[in-house]
Amino acid sequence: MGEFSVPRHVAIIMDGNGRWAKRRGLPRTMGHRAGCETVEQTVRDAADLGIEYLTVYGFSTENWKRSSEEVGALMQLFRFYIRKLLKVAKEKNVRVLSIGDRTRFDKDLIEGLNRLERETKDNTRMTFILALNYGGRDEIVRAAKKLLKAGEAGELSADDVTEELFSGFLDTAGIPDPDLMIRTSGELRLSNYLLWQLAYSEFYVTDCLWPDLTKRNLKKLSRNIIPERDGSAA
Ligand code: IPE
Ligand code: IPE
Ligand code: MG
Repeated sequence: MGEFSVPRHVAIIMDGNGRWAKRRGLPRTMGHRAGCETVEQTVRDAADLGIEYLTVYGFSTENWKRSSEEVGALMQLFRFYIRKLLKVAKEKNVRVLSIGDRTRFDKDLIEGLNRLERETKDNTRMTFILALNYGGRDEIVRAAKKLLKAGEAGELSADDVTEELFSGFLDTAGIPDPDLMIRTSGELRLSNYLLWQLAYSEFYVTDCLWPDLTKRNLKKLSRNIIPERDGSAA
């Protein structure tokens, strides 16, 4: 098949902001700022390319271990960019969701994320999912807790638990699994990203540093997907 088939759901590990800055003799924070600009542009590009779901890894549960300066700078950038993102989402008819445990963030940041979700909930062109304070293991543990609580409340019993039911307790409930996972900057690891959801996704690792990603790259990378695997492709 020569036709370019657009993957329905693309998940990205946006890595390489630090290296991008280092190559330019700049502080890491400048790399994160450039990376945020790329997120904004990628949301526009993905919507234009016809991707239905785009999930990006913005901050992992392990990223708290970075220096307090870097974590603080990232939080400031999130504050600023979620406001910019609201504008882009409205302009492009994009619905924004977040996954991960936001309870660890400052109150104003949580409120900003709530607002972003609330004010874009009826948008239909694309769903943009921000993974913030996200870890695949943490998500599975939180899902197991919710499941047990439902059990304790008498709402279900052990025999009711299926893969499908369990999926519904994850942060990604209702979202189709990614067809394609892209990692920028060359590292061949998953870094605790979407452990459950990537079970059958194609992986593509590019040496391109995240801030350097362009629409052309994104389109090219999206072509790497093998469209038909087990007949479940939409
Ligand atoms: C990814 O870039 C951004 C975040 C994890 C927030 P890095 O900061 O990990 O960049 P490198 O890996 O040091 O180049
Ligand atoms: C993964 O990148 C997390 C995000 C992109 C937010 P990292 O740079 O934090 O991953 P490791 O630590 O190199 O595995
Ligand atoms: Mg990194």
